[in-house]
Amino acid sequence: MTETASLDSAALIALEDRYHVPVYAKLPMVLVRGSGSWVWDADGRKYLDLYGGHCVASLGHCHPRVVAAIQRQAETLLFYSNVVYNDARAAACERLVALVPPELRRVFLCNSGTEANETALKIARKHTGRQRVIALREGFHGRTLGSLGVTGLPGLVDPSYPVAAACDFVPFGDLHAVADLIGSETAAVMLEPIPSMGGIRCAPDAYYQGLRDLCDEHGALLVFDEVQTGFGRTGTPFFGDGVGVQPDVITGAKGAAGGMPAGVVFVRDTLSAAMNAGDQGTTFGGGPLACAALAVVAEVLLSDELPRHALEREAQLRDALCDMSGLRGVSGKGLLLGLDLDQPAKPIIAKLRDAGFLVGGGKDPQQIRLMPPLTITHDELQLFSNALGMLLA
Ligand SMILES: Cc1ncc(COP(=O)(O)O)c(C=O)c1O
Repeated sequence: MTETASLDSAALIALEDRYHVPVYAKLPMVLVRGSGSWVWDADGRKYLDLYGGHCVASLGHCHPRVVAAIQRQAETLLFYSNVVYNDARAAACERLVALVPPELRRVFLCNSGTEANETALKIARKHTGRQRVIALREGFHGRTLGSLGVTGLPGLVDPSYPVAAACDFVPFGDLHAVADLIGSETAAVMLEPIPSMGGIRCAPDAYYQGLRDLCDEHGALLVFDEVQTGFGRTGTPFFGDGVGVQPDVITGAKGAAGGMPAGVVFVRDTLSAAMNAGDQGTTFGGGPLACAALAVVAEVLLSDELPRHALEREAQLRDALCDMSGLRGVSGKGLLLGLDLDQPAKPIIAKLRDAGFLVGGGKDPQQIRLMPPLTITHDELQLFSNALGMLLA
């Protein structure tokens, strides 16, 4: 066996590539350590992480309270499944529902975003007795078959490979398109309230109210996939709070547990009542270790007012970038932001990386995606805007 501690980046990359199925287009870097908004590579180089470990490091990397909670839990009980009750799970459920309005205070705990979305689809179909879903052309909901079936983003579904859902796709922001399709066979309208991978964009608040009204009129469920927008990222605990529209189901993952794998589905009481033992399940979902982290993240989000902090950092960044040459605008909300360039984003993303800043790209070839820790500081963000200004000048 290779002793990895003595290997440099090139050797570690070669080792991983030799064994892992090559499904990821990885950056040629090996990250080995993180703290707050920063990560370090195997060669000791430091990067400001505005990609947030793929929108996961909501409290920054290795937040001391998350680390302490999982250390404590690991020494107490690493795992037991949902076949029994558990103190960490009970605590996590209570803290999680403190983030949502009273009518959504039922949770199902799972392991990932796609599993949360599979659950939402199951609940919608079971509750309505209908099959069809309306979803976004630019939406992304995960890689398992049910979630892929409602993923409109091109290039993710192999056309020769059948996916599960009966789904119609509509453009983001187009209420008329939903109105034309919704009917007595529609189980759910499901969307990322701000599409992310498909290109970060916002719609007017009236769009979300319009979706709510159409769903109510036709007896369909409104499902917000908040895997990226949720847990404080858009300035409120969940997106609906900011636009005054509550869906019937919210799915969350990524930042939910500050780096531990976890998915959460929030549902209305009435929907929960329609689910029976055996209707859904997962071995690892709601495990004690993940629950210890979920509970801490929910607590810190509220105690440290991270949603408000996200809005302040957004305002700072918009201010700093408003007249920057090479930039057409800033899309998104809170700390889920798209920087719309007047040129291809890929070379700028690579130059930023060389300068020590990690940012994301997406399907929009001229957009840089930012999803930094919600704890990112004023000075850290300023470092980034200064660097971007110099690169685009
Ligand atoms: C909006 C959205 N939904 C669902 C998923 C799938 O989450 P996971 O990779 O945890 O299955 C993602 C992942 O990027 C996502 O961005």
